[in-house]
Amino acid sequence: MEFFIDTAIVDEIKEINAWGVLSGVTTNPSLIVASGRDFREVVQEIAEMVGGAISAEVTSLDAEGMIREGQEVAQWSEHVVVKLPLTPAGLQACKALTSQGIKTNVTLCFSVPQALLAARAGATYISPFAGRVDDIGWDGIDLIRQIKEAYVLGGIETKVLAASIRHPMHVVQSALAGADVATIPYKVFTQMIKHPLTQAGLDGFMKDWAKRAGASSETPSSEAGTNPQAGGVDAQGGSKK
Ligand code: G3P
Repeated sequence: MEFFIDTAIVDEIKEINAWGVLSGVTTNPSLIVASGRDFREVVQEIAEMVGGAISAEVTSLDAEGMIREGQEVAQWSEHVVVKLPLTPAGLQACKALTSQGIKTNVTLCFSVPQALLAARAGATYISPFAGRVDDIGWDGIDLIRQIKEAYVLGGIETKVLAASIRHPMHVVQSALAGADVATIPYKVFTQMIKHPLTQAGLDGFMKDWAKRAGASSETPSSEAGTNPQAGGVDAQGGSKK
């Protein structure tokens, strides 16, 4: 399962991108407004930084307007994927844009029938919103599982992009449900990487490393990510000083 980040805040993207784990970024009108940036400018900056698949959503509600907008944002970068709502106009625009070779991400999907319609309209990605389905007491992960199953049985190549991810278990469950991609908010990435045993283990290694012969008494703090190599330690663990 590939990871996208679900934000238009460049500092958040930069930090997680540095981990080497991102294959793309998803934005939507709310996330663009939350970034406080110009739509085109921030999408181009993100595309330059991350590459991969960068979803930029149209805001027209009619098919003609969506097609016009889609053609325009697709020019912004070779990495742009045009995001379209799952409405009759959105499907019409999806068909037109994909027939022009433009990648599409059909969003606001909440049912298997909707996902099958989007696939038939040629969508590159389908975005079922797991968290929002959970919000109304239904099972968002089960929706993802059913969509993937229907796609596999139908030989459908549209990629299932698990969206509206609220916590690390949503990521695990999406992977086990067969999602091709999960788009994950910054906060959830910072939760995913943490494990108390990893921290305790690293502290233990650093403490033992500091005890080796010739080592300075100062124990590097693993939290701060200081590197024992920084002090110019050679491969045998002896000090180069
Ligand atoms: O990608 C869709 C996502 O941004 C919506 O998430 O948490 O507002 O349901 P949420």
